[in-house]
Amino acid sequence: MRLVNMTVLINKARDENCTRLARDEWFVYTNLMSHEKQTTWIEVNLGAIQRNIGRLQELSQRPVMAVVKANAYGHGLIEVSHAAVEAGVIRLCVARLEEALRLRQAGIKIPILVLGYVMPGCAQEAVKNKISLMVNSFDIAQQFNEAAAGGNTPLAVHVKIDSGMHRLGLLPEEVESFGRQIRQLQHLRFEGIFTHLPNADDLTDGSTLKHLSVFAEAVEQLKALGILPEVVHAANSAAAIYFPSARFDAIRPGIAIYGLNPDFGAPLPKGFEPALTWKGRLSSIKMIPSGEGIGYNYRYHTTRTERIGVATTGYADGLRRRLGNIALVGGKRVQQVGGMCMDQSLWQLDEIPNARIGDEVVFVGQQGDQHISAEEVGELWSSNNYDVVCGLAARVPRFYFNR
Ligand SMILES: Cc1ncc(COP(=O)(O)O)c(C=O)c1O
Repeated sequence: MRLVNMTVLINKARDENCTRLARDEWFVYTNLMSHEKQTTWIEVNLGAIQRNIGRLQELSQRPVMAVVKANAYGHGLIEVSHAAVEAGVIRLCVARLEEALRLRQAGIKIPILVLGYVMPGCAQEAVKNKISLMVNSFDIAQQFNEAAAGGNTPLAVHVKIDSGMHRLGLLPEEVESFGRQIRQLQHLRFEGIFTHLPNADDLTDGSTLKHLSVFAEAVEQLKALGILPEVVHAANSAAAIYFPSARFDAIRPGIAIYGLNPDFGAPLPKGFEPALTWKGRLSSIKMIPSGEGIGYNYRYHTTRTERIGVATTGYADGLRRRLGNIALVGGKRVQQVGGMCMDQSLWQLDEIPNARIGDEVVFVGQQGDQHISAEEVGELWSSNNYDVVCGLAARVPRFYFNR
């Protein structure tokens, strides 16, 4: 009974507020419908995402298959997907069947491709929900074929070629025998052939053209054997922008849709806009005397009387449990002091004498004329912008606007 009431409550909240809030699990966490009532939150500009998609279409002269896996790179699977559909993408790509089913439950009607491995026993679930699956070996194709045999509709599959990444996919020498054997499998429909490029974001590395030629040859081999897919696709964001020969029938970008650079060495051209801002608030400001230890394990000691602020955001929200994080307070850059806590963090505020409890703290995004990019944070963490946005925790509510 309690569960039913909870569901009713959530659905009611959904109906009343779905224009501003993600229609997914964040909902459960937030009855605080406005970001003004939040202590840690993410703002996503869906207009920027739509313009970035438009920019990719224009630049590549190809339709876009938008990669929305990993909760749309932390931006929110459902809202981003609705915005991407509105912007004209032809397909959505996810990593897991679970993500694809959530998209269907949210009313997404366009084709969806699962890029990652799916348990063969789920083939019927995929057929029922018109979800296409990736096939990377004849064994898996056979298992999918058997599992799909119970129904009337074939399972749509995209054959993955390992053109050089050596992760998933048929090796070049396996392509021909795959192509010959696959014709027996009556319950599969060959909708696509694709590959993934490991180095397209490294413009100093010559391997991408080689990978593309391996892929193009595999496509020709399969076509010669009568496998004629609707869509051949290879280009992630960097390849879509920097390698015209990778564009084939459609491009398959992720990071560029969110307005983030594929790499420092392969930046987005002018006109792309980052869509995400990540904020918290100050919950305490104190003057701490010189020589005091700050936070867990006293990883920082004051060297004079210091103004120390506490922010409402910690490693369970997506900050890293490390020293030296940065943020914006009062339009200025501030440094983390002490170790990162689970739900909170400590900041040196000597330069922000006017800071007040409740003030916004920006971890990614703009405040005044200062900006902290996901790229900068990624570099600070010895990682990259993908890691920063994909690591944003589920408990942080996302708020959407269109500007
Ligand atoms: C198979 C596949 N295709 C496309 C993409 C999108 O790549 P990017 O975000 O670099 O555009 C990814 C991302 O990891 C991927 O795994």
